[in-house]
Amino acid sequence: MNRSLTAHELREIFFCFFKQRGHTLISGGSLIPQNDPTVLFTTAGMHPLVPYLMGEPHPAGQRLCDVQKCIRTGDIDAVGNASHLTFFEMLGSWSLGDYFKEDAIAWSYEFLTSPDTLGFPPDALYVTVFQGNDRVPADRESAEVWKKMGIPEARILFLPVEDNWWGPAGRTGPCGPDTEMFIDIGQPPCGPACRPGCSCGKYFEIWNDVFMQYEKTAEGAYVPLKKNNVDTGMGVERTIAMLQGKKSVYETELFAPIIAAIAAQSGQAMGKSDVDGQVTRAFRVIADHLRSSVFILGDEQGVSPSNLGQGYVLRRLIRRAVRHAKNLEMSVGFVKLIAESVIAQYGPIYPELTHNRDRILRELAAEEEKFEKTLNQGLQEFGKVLEQMKAHNQKALAGRIAFRLYDTYGFPVEFTAELCAEQGITIDKDGFDKAFAKHQEISRQGADKVFKGGLADNSEATTRLHTATHLLHRSLQLVLGDHVKQKGSNITAERLRFDFSHSAKLTPEEIRKVETLVNDAIQKGLPVSVEVMTLEQAQAANATALFAAKYGEQVKVYSIGDFSREVCGGPHVDNIRELGRFRIQKEEASSAGVRRIRAVLEASC
Ligand code: ALA
Repeated sequence: MNRSLTAHELREIFFCFFKQRGHTLISGGSLIPQNDPTVLFTTAGMHPLVPYLMGEPHPAGQRLCDVQKCIRTGDIDAVGNASHLTFFEMLGSWSLGDYFKEDAIAWSYEFLTSPDTLGFPPDALYVTVFQGNDRVPADRESAEVWKKMGIPEARILFLPVEDNWWGPAGRTGPCGPDTEMFIDIGQPPCGPACRPGCSCGKYFEIWNDVFMQYEKTAEGAYVPLKKNNVDTGMGVERTIAMLQGKKSVYETELFAPIIAAIAAQSGQAMGKSDVDGQVTRAFRVIADHLRSSVFILGDEQGVSPSNLGQGYVLRRLIRRAVRHAKNLEMSVGFVKLIAESVIAQYGPIYPELTHNRDRILRELAAEEEKFEKTLNQGLQEFGKVLEQMKAHNQKALAGRIAFRLYDTYGFPVEFTAELCAEQGITIDKDGFDKAFAKHQEISRQGADKVFKGGLADNSEATTRLHTATHLLHRSLQLVLGDHVKQKGSNITAERLRFDFSHSAKLTPEEIRKVETLVNDAIQKGLPVSVEVMTLEQAQAANATALFAAKYGEQVKVYSIGDFSREVCGGPHVDNIRELGRFRIQKEEASSAGVRRIRAVLEASC
């Protein structure tokens, strides 16, 4: 019999187990990846640790464990079934060039099956390993270790790259074969092809050990990394659902107060009376999307709803929740109440939510109100269009109409697609995209591209711009005041983009002063140095720290002469004369109280 643990107990037991095996507990990173142009959100524990997987020494050592907030919205439409979530917590254990497959698998097996930890019956455990392809051989080593643990061959499946390969999250970076662990929940197979990885729900994936042993290069080659790493990821919500004998993550204690708040607001309930499952689906979508929205708004690098990038995803989550709430006839203002229950539930573990409570509630209420207004008008408009279509027996909504619903009524195209699907009609997506492309800035398309993209490359150009970002940050503080704080950073090989808190547009004079300060520092060739210290020591040394670390946690502090000092993972250039000439191309508003600068480095003459 497995133990029935709460999420809190699971986190504690996980950390305790890995600490006993030499791992140091570190803080998870922000949901918004820093200095990474190619992903919108942190989708796995590896994002904040990429420099270390590539070989940079980590200040806390070679064995780490953590819990990482993750957002994955790639399969947002699947939310509503038993296990899909757009926000989830991932427990991670890490070997940075230390132990490898043998220990990682043995510890996974022990943690899953020992009565002192999770106590799953070994018979319920299925595992998968990489079957190999023309570039990388099959992972027989992992299969052998599983056999040694006592897992019979029939429950060790060799699967292809789509199932058993992890990373890079995009074009380049660390990656490798993985071995995934599933619990058989005991229901009959859905058919002869039913196996771990099948979507019927019989096999519930709860843990993944990734063996990061390759770097995928820009040319598409898989080059062995200098050191082998292990990145394991255990989904908190899924694992406790299994431990508590629940068929759905929404039935666990993590969701109980949120579901109760929705029930109180809607006067409806999930369960037997919900014959066609529509109420259950609406409950789940509302609970999931608002939980994610609270975490995005409450993040250290808080984002606001907008039509671009992360802000667009956030807007889509909130608006989708509101639309489902309308189907349940919930009244305006419900969002605040649900958000309060998420903050109460998670505040003790993620203090940034409590800290940013006012901002979360304010932004949610504003977006709910904005959407309410346009939704009613847009639905009326959609109704008229539908009548016309029926009259003419049309089965596809023209792209330009979908675009008008977006442009005039703020309907994300996915909403229109959902409304169409409910009526059994399709949407001319190409036509929509064409109309959209004419529109000034590409929002969702851009977001999707970014989302599917890879982790930042560590090219020299991005490293130079990263160092320039530190100089810019400090210069902005010197010119505008100490209230300037980094709100986001996004670097490609061509330019840097830096968001910071400041409420007024910069004057040409201020821009010139900032450029001069940065360029003077470059000309002086100030030395770049790095030291490892605790976060408290870093703060005492006046280093800018963007994230809340655990008490006593070791961090790296990069200094550029006496000019700038920041807690940062690196990498940076050694000599800042390499940076050339710094130029601000554009300064504009990003969201309320946040400005955005785009800048480039040019060869100095
Ligand atoms: N990075 C791995 C995953 O997300 C552990 O599954």
